[in-house]
Amino acid sequence: MILPVILAGGTGSRLWPLSRDLMPKQFLTLHGEHTMLQTTILRLAGIKTLPPLVICNEEHRFIAAEQLRQISQLDHNIILEPTGRNTAPAIALAAFTALKQGIDPLLLVLAADHVIANNTEFIKALAQADVLANNNNLVTFGIVPTAAETGYGYIKRGAALGDAYSVAQFVEKPNLTTAQQYFASGDYYWNSGMFMFKASVYLTELKQHRPDIYIACERAMADVNPDLDFIRVNYDAFIACPSDSVDYAVMEKTRAAVVVAIDAGWNDIGSWASIWDISAKDSVGNVHKGDVLDIDGSNNYVFAETGLVATVGLSNIVVVQTKDAVLVATKNKVQAVKAIVQQLKATG
Ligand code: GDD
Ligand code: MG
Repeated sequence: MILPVILAGGTGSRLWPLSRDLMPKQFLTLHGEHTMLQTTILRLAGIKTLPPLVICNEEHRFIAAEQLRQISQLDHNIILEPTGRNTAPAIALAAFTALKQGIDPLLLVLAADHVIANNTEFIKALAQADVLANNNNLVTFGIVPTAAETGYGYIKRGAALGDAYSVAQFVEKPNLTTAQQYFASGDYYWNSGMFMFKASVYLTELKQHRPDIYIACERAMADVNPDLDFIRVNYDAFIACPSDSVDYAVMEKTRAAVVVAIDAGWNDIGSWASIWDISAKDSVGNVHKGDVLDIDGSNNYVFAETGLVATVGLSNIVVVQTKDAVLVATKNKVQAVKAIVQQLKATG
């Protein structure tokens, strides 16, 4: 049986100033009619699964619960983290929760920041993954790369296993030179950031490769009642947990990974440039949201939350205006928006 595990505890800082600590991107409607969290769950409507398990920060519990209610997803659990420790611990909390409930399901780990245009292809890949995960593999979903992106993990194809492949190498966020080599070789997929594995298999791998994270999460779940709507982990134990992503902590190290290729119009809504990428554009490549006047501009993304935003003669730029902050950036530098948030936090 599949248990969808929705990772919704990120900060989405590259989408500042729309994505904020109080309302990070997974709770925003950035594409289509629903929020990113809602879209992630609605995407599974066509398959039979256990009720989803959402993992987010304690301070977003009411937003998460309300957004689930809005899509009539009343049967769910929400694990609350007192603070983010990245995805390896978050997935461990989900795995421990399942085992405590007396089940060892296939965890379908989904990020809450993806767009998938072709749902049929996605569901098809899940069926393929189901068989492999039942055979104790850690299944990754690989995307054929279209550029030497450094914001993604790279998966090198190994031996063929039916329609899938073993993973010869997993490299999380390589530097540009390495990413260029991988891209040129044609041997690598991007890691989509979705995974499928048995709860017990994940914990065995985590225990082997990162016993420190395993032990901290085991302690954090020791006295927890897994059958409540809001599952609160032990504060001190979880605070003591090292922070690391599943990609570094497990996927780079395991020998049990396989990759299922997925061609489903996948896109990671990581930055303003990716939002521009997936949005409908006018004849000169502009995307305008709200009250915008763009004269002689092209390939721009301009968002006005309140009042009018006007630009003249600008191309390949991003302008995002909210009621208390304005971002103006060159489109090819928007990955660095993260640095603004870091600087704001550092200076209080
Ligand atoms: N619960 C919880 N706690 N969720 C978290 C935490 C945390 O501490 N940190 C991040 N998340 C959630 C985010 O909200 C997002 O839905 C998902 O986990 C992935 O985190 P990102 O921070 O967006 O990861 P990334 O985009 O840098 O990298 C991952 O995704 C890429 C594809 O989009 C990696 O898996 C890469 O290898 C992959 O290519
Ligand atoms: Mg991401």
